[in-house]
Amino acid sequence: MAKVLVTGSLGMLGRRLVEKFGQHHEVVATARREAPGVSILDITDRSRVLSAVAGIRPDWIVNAAAYTAVDRAESDIGAAFALNAAGPRFLAEAADSVGARLLHISTDFVFSGAQDRPYHEEDATGPVGVYARSKDAGERWVSAVGARACILRVAWLFGRDGKNFVDTMIRLARERPELRVVADQMGTPTFTTDAAALAVSVMEAGLSGIVHGANSGVTNWCEFAREIVRQAGESTPVRAITTTDYPTPASRPRNSALENRVVQTILRHQARPWPEALSAYLRGE
Ligand SMILES: NC(=O)c1ccc[n+]([C@@H]2O[C@H](COP(=O)([O-])OP(=O)(O)OC[C@H]3O[C@@H](n4cnc5c(N)ncnc54)[C@H](OP(=O)(O)O)[C@@H]3O)[C@@H](O)[C@H]2O)c1
Repeated sequence: MAKVLVTGSLGMLGRRLVEKFGQHHEVVATARREAPGVSILDITDRSRVLSAVAGIRPDWIVNAAAYTAVDRAESDIGAAFALNAAGPRFLAEAADSVGARLLHISTDFVFSGAQDRPYHEEDATGPVGVYARSKDAGERWVSAVGARACILRVAWLFGRDGKNFVDTMIRLARERPELRVVADQMGTPTFTTDAAALAVSVMEAGLSGIVHGANSGVTNWCEFAREIVRQAGESTPVRAITTTDYPTPASRPRNSALENRVVQTILRHQARPWPEALSAYLRGE
């Protein structure tokens, strides 16, 4: 049994990580705000990170804390880099200082999107936008510090306890006569429960380096929305639009689908297809 320090444990993925690691390991859950069963840890505060880790002496640190507001990051550059680049750097330093291993959660958005096939772990990153650049910088700091770190990239997350695309589409399908959703951005929808379970396997197997942890299958937001509406038992039409019809402050990659090459090869892990994961989520799994 390992002692696992989880940061950002009140986030959408953080909560599932606490749950899944807690099934087999001792978890110390931390967050930047007070909540039952959680200690306060702001990962942008280097001295507190170092002293908390020295006091807790975890075997593993799992970082789910992040600045995830992709569009807001465009005008909040300092905060995005403090949380997504400096924070992971401090955690990696702290992990190194006590001989802990670090699992750092990252994103499919580190890729430029110019490639026509799914991205695997050895593909070069090419982040576009502040959020993407800050996450890419975080990966580099974590890799540079050592700490026997593993960077687990996830993508297009949906699950309980967070604002997510699935819940938004179901709500809008019930409120509006028609939905209009972009069809020219490809990716891999991923269930937080599946990503968290894979995170546990990755740590238990002692993997390090970059690991992709998405569900399987590639789709676009419009097809994803159509499947959500269908599985939710609604009949609202979903019309395909283009990215230029729906401008956002931050650019998104045209393709950020992930191939989980490392876990397929080393762990023989086959992620379940995203439509099955979606149906598990809608069943309340
Ligand atoms: N959501 C997606 O679609 C998606 C896709 C790809 C990758 N990812 C990655 O997956 C990871 C988890 O994302 P998520 O969707 O679970 O995000 P989330 O729900 O926004 O959770 C992030 C958590 O970080 C916490 N946090 C913020 N500032 C902090 C600080 N200074 N110190 C400690 N904690 C702090 C937040 O606290 P509060 O609860 O107080 O705000 C929040 O609980 C991130 O690394 C993200 O980049 C997400």
